[in-house]
Order: sequence, then C-alpha cells, then structure tokens
Amino acid sequence: MRNIVLIGFMGTGKSTVGKYLAQSLAWDFVDTDCEIGEVTNLSVTEIFRRHGETRFRSEERIVVARLSQQEQIVIATGGGTVLNPHNWEALAQNGIVIGLHASIEAILSRIGHKNDRPLLKGPKEEIEKLWSERQEFYAQADLTVDTTEKSIEEVVNEILTWLGRRMNNELSGVAKD
Ligand code: S3P
Repeated sequence: MRNIVLIGFMGTGKSTVGKYLAQSLAWDFVDTDCEIGEVTNLSVTEIFRRHGETRFRSEERIVVARLSQQEQIVIATGGGTVLNPHNWEALAQNGIVIGLHASIEAILSRIGHKNDRPLLKGPKEEIEKLWSERQEFYAQADLTVDTTEKSIEEVVNEILTWLGRRMNNELSGVAKD
C-alpha cells in the first residue's frame, strides 16, 4: 500500500489534516519539517537563519528520499517540498499525492501572525506572489481539496471518501482483468 502525501502552500492545513487522516487510517504520520528538525537538531527558522534556505532544501531532499522508501505513512510536506522535481518524483512514485488549497486571505489569517515561517516574513505582495507562482505545482496532485471554509473533519472525510472510491475502482479493474 502506497503512502499518502499532502502538499500545498503554508497554512493550508497539511500537518493538522495529516495527523487526523493518519489516525483515521491507523497509519503513522510524518511531517517533513519535523523530520528535518530531528536530524539537524534545529528548528526550520534556525536552519534558515544560520545556514540559509539552500541548506534547508538539501536536508529536505534527504528526508524526502528516505520517507519515500516507506509504506503506509501519511506524509505532510513543507510548502516548498514539491517544487523540487526530484522530491516530486520520489514522493509520487510511492504515494498518492493530495493537494490542500486555501485562499491567500485564509492563509494569512491562519498563520500570518506566527513567527515560525521564514518565507512569510516579507510584505503581503511577496507572499501573494509566492502563493500564485506555486499554484501550478500543487495543481498536479491526484486530488485537490479546498480547505478554505472547511473543518478538519470535513477535509479528512472528503479525502477518505475519495480514497475509498479510488480503491473500489482499482479493485474492480483488477477483477475485470
Ligand atoms: C516552506 C514551508 C514550510 C517550511 C519552510 C519552507 C515553503 O512548511 O518547510 O518554512 O517553502 O513554503 P509548511 O508548509 O508546513 O509551513
């Protein structure tokens, strides 16, 4: 059974939804940012501050390569993880990719006040630009769920329903063969 990989911009709910989804499936949950934190013993903010984004991306790539070898885990990626084609390929070859979407207004109201995301520190226009530029990457997911006005339960149920349907289709495909 393949992994479930959650992608999307910062503040779309990847970690919160991922934890809940993993619980519902009785699978393990892994967050790439937390894994990077464990490996380096530094928070994301500290890695960016002390070593820069390039180092963060390199740690991220190592973590993604390792997690992509596992099975039956729910992986919450960082907002920039799938911008690297190697990461995308590794995650997608062994996982179903689910994109979480939210409006820029919702994102800013959810996490705009927090201080733990180095790439959210710039002016609003810059964040909006980053958000727009990244939409084409996230849109390549197998399923996209808009979390803007939904509760965690609603988002998780939507994902579970879609997964159930997909599995049924796959099984009936096998039965026909
Ligand atoms: C980033 C998103 C963050 C974290 C880092 C960079 C990005 O993760 O990986 O600050 O490039 O969008 P979240 O999406 O979990 O906030």
